[in-house]
Amino acid sequence: MKVILDATVSPTGFISRENFEEDFLPDSGWDAFKESVARAGNFIIGRHTYEIIGPEHFDSIEATRIVVSSQNLDVRPTFTLAKSPEAALKLLEDKGFQEALVGGGSGLNSSFMRAGLVDEIIFYVVPYIIGKGTPVFTGEFEAELEFIENKPFAEGFISRYRVVAKESSGF
Ligand SMILES: NC(=O)c1ccc[n+]([C@@H]2O[C@H](COP(=O)([O-])OP(=O)(O)OC[C@H]3O[C@@H](n4cnc5c(N)ncnc54)[C@H](OP(=O)(O)O)[C@@H]3O)[C@@H](O)[C@H]2O)c1
Repeated sequence: MKVILDATVSPTGFISRENFEEDFLPDSGWDAFKESVARAGNFIIGRHTYEIIGPEHFDSIEATRIVVSSQNLDVRPTFTLAKSPEAALKLLEDKGFQEALVGGGSGLNSSFMRAGLVDEIIFYVVPYIIGKGTPVFTGEFEAELEFIENKPFAEGFISRYRVVAKESSGF
């Protein structure tokens, strides 16, 4: 299973404001997410993103939708609950997927990275700076990346990296 982590970020590395609003992100960020989902056929989001954005907001995206939470959430029928990142990947593997898309937010991204589960990271970098907010990753971990490519996208650029030294493999 190839795991791709996908985030729309300001050049300062923030994915939303401190109050969790994403008003500084252009529509192209959402379009990019939908294209990635169309390729993978699925996406995985954290409980906070599920609640902040609202599960109904994802109804128009044809995909297997997973929300990760340690709680016994009563999720919308269009979503499946997984209790951990590993459980989310197992659900997708059992359905025959070869690729999984991790769609954020910060806490979930970091959980996947800390567990050494991510193979590739795609940043959609938008031309709008905010100086504080929700960072794309949070907490204590490091990962060595290999640059793959930069290419233009809408108003900004797409930056792709391979994760070469994963946290759980003794980086
Ligand atoms: N720009 C972008 O690309 C983008 C993409 C997605 C989201 N966002 C933004 O990101 C913000 C939300 O990020 P966030 O960091 O606050 O929340 P989040 O990552 O969406 O959700 C965090 C929650 O996910 C669950 N979780 C994470 N790791 C887990 C693990 N190992 N095992 C079990 N559950 C786990 C926990 O839920 P429980 O507490 O229930 O256990 C945790 O509280 C929002 O503002 C959203 O709009 C931006």
